[in-house]
Amino acid sequence: MNKHICTRWAFDLSTWTPTLPQLTHAVSVIQPEERTRLMKFHFIDDFLSSLIGRLLMRKFVSTCSGEPYHQVHFERDARGKPYWVQQGQGEGQKLKGTTNALSFNVSHQGSLVLLAGIRGNKDDPEFGIGTDVMKIEYNGGKSLAEFFRLMQSKFSPQEWSYIGRPQHNEGAQLKAFMRHWCLKEAYVKELGVGITVDLQKISFAVDTTHPLEEAVSPLCATTLRCNGTPMTQWHFEEHLLSHKYCAAIAFRNCLPHDNAKFEFVRFEDLIEQSKASAEQPDVVAYCKQALLKPQKRHS
Ligand code: COA
Ligand code: MG
Repeated sequence: MNKHICTRWAFDLSTWTPTLPQLTHAVSVIQPEERTRLMKFHFIDDFLSSLIGRLLMRKFVSTCSGEPYHQVHFERDARGKPYWVQQGQGEGQKLKGTTNALSFNVSHQGSLVLLAGIRGNKDDPEFGIGTDVMKIEYNGGKSLAEFFRLMQSKFSPQEWSYIGRPQHNEGAQLKAFMRHWCLKEAYVKELGVGITVDLQKISFAVDTTHPLEEAVSPLCATTLRCNGTPMTQWHFEEHLLSHKYCAAIAFRNCLPHDNAKFEFVRFEDLIEQSKASAEQPDVVAYCKQALLKPQKRHS
């Protein structure tokens, strides 16, 4: 399998309190239908997570393709997965990012927003990437054992035997649960199929030679079986970020050229390729309205 250039960017929302000019700048570069979607979020936290995801995608595509930042155009497929529409493609040729030799996926949870992206050659066989991030915490009210019972159907018996190892305390079991959750999500997000997959038939065997810690992250020896068949065309990375977050990247028909960690980017990095445009009063009004949204209470 060919090795591909991989991008792993992370944004930590807890380090950023947007000013009105920053928000106006960010909102002015995203597509109008995304503005409408964002405004429907009740909490400012969700609004900003999703907004940062859009900026990460734009930066990734513009950087890798050379297409001017403002011209990058995204659409969503029938299940909501965003893809890049390369300039010059006609209505009938709107192809997904992978055929343009770029594949990317965004995930956000808590204060983190991640983008994993991969760049190949035009003549590579079709390939793709999916990613997911989860905060390693549980405050669902029920006991963890009860929560695991409710989640029984989401994991295979082999996965449960690892997650529920009796010699491990609840913290370790929760971490194992979240690792498997991220792996499954990254896999289904590459496929773009959401929850239509029978999750019990997808069974991951995580790397047991090392505990997942920031220092050794990413772990790359995780394997997948579907209905008992080894999925040899897939490769997985497991990351631990900021102690509290685990993340996974699923690579289909491609391999990253390195095993690097996620790189934390700043707001300025996300908009550096955008030209300053004349202030649009409707965007300023939109942002003022967004800044009135309530904030989630964090633990
Ligand atoms: N496939 C892949 N990526 C998608 C997608 C899809 N069908 N739809 C949207 N996305 C992208 C978007 O960039 C989206 O960001 P946006 O909401 O700001 O537009 C981002 O992925 C969302 O990813 P994430 O933050 O990880 O959200 P999620 O984990 O809540 O949602 C979906 C993931 C979108 C695939 C979700 O709809 C879903 O169906 N999840 C499966 C649920 C489940 O039962 N999982 C069990 C795992 S054990
Ligand atoms: Mg997710």
